[in-house]
Amino acid sequence: MNTYIKEYVMLELDNICWQADGKKIINNISMNFEKNKMYAITGPNGSGKSSLVKIIAGIHKQSSGNIYLDGNCIDSLNITKRAGEHIAYSFQSPVLFRGVTVSELLDIAMKNSRNPYNKVELLSFVGLDARVYLNRSMDGTLSGGELKRIEIATVLARNAEVLILDEPEAGIDLWSFKRFIETINNIHEHFETTIIMISHQERLLAMTDYVIYMKNGRIEHVYNQESFTKHMNGERDYEDKIKCINRELLYD
Ligand SMILES: Nc1ncnc2c1ncn2[C@@H]1O[C@H](COP(=O)(O)OP(=O)(O)OP(=O)(O)O)[C@@H](O)[C@H]1O
Ligand SMILES: [Mg+2]
Repeated sequence: MNTYIKEYVMLELDNICWQADGKKIINNISMNFEKNKMYAITGPNGSGKSSLVKIIAGIHKQSSGNIYLDGNCIDSLNITKRAGEHIAYSFQSPVLFRGVTVSELLDIAMKNSRNPYNKVELLSFVGLDARVYLNRSMDGTLSGGELKRIEIATVLARNAEVLILDEPEAGIDLWSFKRFIETINNIHEHFETTIIMISHQERLLAMTDYVIYMKNGRIEHVYNQESFTKHMNGERDYEDKIKCINRELLYD
C-alpha cells in the first residue's frame, strides 16, 4: 500500500462484498476516503449506494472485506459503537422516534459532540423555525420534508469526523436546500470532517472534492472536481484527468 496516501485516510474500505437473498449487491469495493474531503456517491437506482453506506455505518455487515476508521479495523463494532467512534449517518428515508421531541433528539445528537451550534441555529440551517419545531414529536405528524430536515439537523449536530448523508436533497424544497449546502460547506471549511453524500443532484455533486460513480455494486469511476466538470460538459478527454483513488488505480 502507498504510505503517502495512507496517512491522510480517514475511512478505508478493503475489498468489501455484500450479498443479500443470494444476490451480490456490493461487489468487491476498495476505496479510501481522505480526511477533510467531501465525496459524493452517485449512480443509477439500485446500484448499491445506500447498501454501501449502510455497511459503513454498521447497519449491514459485509460478507467479506474489512473497514478501517482512522487506521483501526471497525468490523466488529455494531451501529451504536460506530456512532460512538464518530460516524454520523442519515437514512434515505427518515426514521420516526415516537414520543421523542425534536429538542430531545437534538440533545442526544449534541451530547459529547464537537458541534459548536445551538439547537436554534441547527434548525435554521435546514430552514426550520425552532419556535415551531423544538417541541414537536418526531412522529408521523411531521411532513416528509420536515422529518428529512430534522434528521439532517441531527447529523449536523453530531458534527462527527465522518458525516454520511443519503440523498439529503430528497423531499427538501430548493430554498432550504440552499441553506443546507451553505452549512455543509461551512462544516467542510471549519472542521476536520470527511463528508460522504449520496446524491442525484448535479449542484450537490459539483460542490464535492470527488464524485464516485457506482454501477452494479461496483465503483466505476472516481472523478475529481475538474474531471467531473469536464465529464458533465461532455468533454471526451476527461478520462486522462481522472484521479482514481480506488487504490489499485491510483494516479494523478
Ligand atoms: N436487504 C436487502 N435484501 C435484498 N435485496 C436488497 C436489500 N437491500 C438492498 N437490496 C437490493 O440491492 C440493490 C441496491 O440497493 P440500494 O438501496 O443500495 O440501491 P441505491 O443505489 O441506493 O438505489 P437508489 O438510488 O434507488 O436509492 C437493489 O437492487 C435492492 O433491491
Ligand atoms: Mg439509495
